[in-house]
Amino acid sequence: MEFNVNDKCIHCGKCINDCMGKALKFDENRIPVLDETKCIKCQHCMAICPVGALSIMGKNPDESELPDNLPAPEQVLNLIKNRRSIRHYKHENIDKEKLEKLKNMLNWVPTGVNNHGLHFAFIDDVEVMDEFRDYTNGKMLRVLSCCDKRNKILMGITEPVVKFLTKKFARYKDSFLKGEDIIFRGAPHMVVVSTPVDAPCADIDPTIALSYFELYARSLGIGTCWCGLAYAMIKVFPELCEHLEIPENYKAGYVMLFGNPDTSYPRATQPEPCRMISVKKGIKNSTIQEKAKRFFWNFVR
Ligand SMILES: Cc1cc2nc3c(=O)[nH]c(=O)nc-3n(C[C@H](O)[C@H](O)[C@H](O)COP(=O)(O)O)c2cc1C
Repeated sequence: MEFNVNDKCIHCGKCINDCMGKALKFDENRIPVLDETKCIKCQHCMAICPVGALSIMGKNPDESELPDNLPAPEQVLNLIKNRRSIRHYKHENIDKEKLEKLKNMLNWVPTGVNNHGLHFAFIDDVEVMDEFRDYTNGKMLRVLSCCDKRNKILMGITEPVVKFLTKKFARYKDSFLKGEDIIFRGAPHMVVVSTPVDAPCADIDPTIALSYFELYARSLGIGTCWCGLAYAMIKVFPELCEHLEIPENYKAGYVMLFGNPDTSYPRATQPEPCRMISVKKGIKNSTIQEKAKRFFWNFVR
C-alpha cells in the first residue's frame, strides 16, 4: 500500500497517536513508518496531519475536503426533528444530480473496523421499481390468498414463511388486498444495503448507512421511508436477492424507499421522551441469576 511522508513533516507524532490499529511508529529519524498488516485504511493519519505531509493509499491530502462550512447545531437538530417517514411519492425519477450526491455520500459512512464492505443495490428508475413492486406484491398476494399447501410449496412459500409474513402484515392485510401499495408506498426508488456475512459489525453497519442516507436525502428535499416490510420480503424470497444482485456471502441488511415527496409536514412531531438514566459511580456485584438473565438477553435472544 502506498504510504509517503514528505519533508513538510514536523515530527509531531499526531498520526502515530491517533492510529487505531497501532500501525504507525517513528523510524530512527522520527519519520512515521507504516506496518501495513495492522492498518485498517481509515486514513486518520492523513486527516490529522497539521501540515498535510502524509499520504496513504495514494491519496493527496490537498484534495481532502476541509471541515469548514459545517451546519450550526440548531440546523442539524432542526433537520433531525423535521425528518419524516414519507409514504406518498410522485411517480417520477428524482433528479439525477441529487441521486449521484446521495450515492457519493455513502462512501463516508462509518463501518465497524472500517470494513467498508457494504453493497448498495439501487433501484434508480421508476419503471424498474414498478416491475419489482408488481412482482413482490404478487408474491405477497399469493401468501395471503393461496390456501392450497402444495401450491404454496411449489411457489417457494413454505409454512414458516407464511407465518412470518402473515404476522408482519396483520394490520395491513385488508388494505393490501384492496390494492393499496402497503409495502412500497408508491415509492419510485429503493435502496437495499447488504453486508458481508462475516463483517465485524454486520448487524449495525447497514443501519448506520441508511441513517446517514435519510438525513442527507431530507436536506436535498428527497423523502425516505425505512421499509421493514420490503426487508421481510427480501429475507424470505431468495429470488429477490438474486434480482437485486446481492453478492455471494452477503446478507441483506435493510431497505429504504425514497423519491420526490407528494406530501409535506408543516410542523414536526412531539415525541414522548425516551427512557434515559445517568449511570452512577460504584459497580454493582450482580447475583448469578441476574448475570444469567443478562447473558440470555444479550447473547441468546
Ligand atoms: C426499522 C424501521 C422499519 C420501518 N418499516 C416501515 C415499513 O415497513 N413501512 C412503513 O410505512 N414505515 C416503516 N417505518 C417507519 C416508522 O413507522 C416511522 O418511523 C414511525 O411511524 C414514525 O414516523 P416518523 O419516521 O415520521 O417519525 C420503519 C421505521 C423503522 C425505523
